[in-house]
Amino acid sequence: MDELLSPEQLLSSFSQLESEFRADVDGAADLAALQQVKTKYTGKKGLLTTGMKALSSIAEPERKKEFGRRLNDLKRAVEEAIRGREILLREGEKEKRLLTEKIDITLPGKAVPFGRRHPINQVLGEIKDIFVSMGFGIEDGPEVELDHYNFEALNIPKDHPARDMQDTFYVSDDVVLRTHTSPVQVRVMEKRRPPLKIIAPGKVYRCDADVSHTAMFHQVEGLMVDTGISFSDLKGVLELFIHIFFGKETPVRFRPSFFPFTEPSAEVDIGCVFCRGKGCRVCKTTGWLEVLGSGLVNPRVFDMAGYDPSRYSGFAFGMGVERMTMLKYGIDDIRLFYENDIRFLRQF
Ligand code: DAH
Repeated sequence: MDELLSPEQLLSSFSQLESEFRADVDGAADLAALQQVKTKYTGKKGLLTTGMKALSSIAEPERKKEFGRRLNDLKRAVEEAIRGREILLREGEKEKRLLTEKIDITLPGKAVPFGRRHPINQVLGEIKDIFVSMGFGIEDGPEVELDHYNFEALNIPKDHPARDMQDTFYVSDDVVLRTHTSPVQVRVMEKRRPPLKIIAPGKVYRCDADVSHTAMFHQVEGLMVDTGISFSDLKGVLELFIHIFFGKETPVRFRPSFFPFTEPSAEVDIGCVFCRGKGCRVCKTTGWLEVLGSGLVNPRVFDMAGYDPSRYSGFAFGMGVERMTMLKYGIDDIRLFYENDIRFLRQF
């Protein structure tokens, strides 16, 4: 059908136009082809648009009316047919897509990597669990600590080497970043009466850095106070702890030592986990590795905390969590814990 028909011609060929557009619409194989059909009839220069324009050139009112009505009917029919076809084609395309985009459920899935707890927190959790199972409660104390609790009340006098400017971060003359978790012992004794059976895990700070020292690390403090506590209680608790933590075949020994806040004091060694006691570089050929410090609470510490040393006795201990972790997993550089290399962390 030609584009520029007179109104008369248009009118006379309505039925032909009608059958022609139906063939056009039905013949559109896809949405792009349908768009072309749409343009052909209802576009700016489309057959129906030009027909509308031709309307004004009809002088006779009756014919104009008749022409207008038929044109409108046709327009509605065209639009409806196009809409219907469009729905059909869209469905078809969707179906085709569903067929080609089929999910192959036999393909292996994509692994979503799980996060996990940091090795230090894992080991800290293990240590806590062991002591909690023995009836110890968990206590907390401030990391920014008074000189009094960090040193003085633990019988560490002003000239003690641990107070050296090289080791201690001073916030002011009488405020420090705690260099150990031992001050929690004193804080707990000040607010509670015996019997006491607590551990105090947490961060501590020392101005120190090499393969086995970082400026921040973790300790777990322990304190048990009651009437009649003796060195055998200390030995029993720590031996049991070590056997659960490192395995029950692990040799343990108590070696005389010195801490200002305990008397007598002992360092606890385990048979070297690297050479099984034969002697190696790590244990400096001794066959033994130091794992924690301990002792019976010094009566002077009880005095300062307001406990009667003639009535109460107790033991205390302190261990480094990084060190325990390094020994348990055979890690030779403490800095690995804080580099956050995912290849390292993933192994725990
Ligand atoms: N506070 C000591 C340190 O940081 C460790 C320690 C040793 C704690 C003996 C104790 C203890 O409670 O009895 O080196």
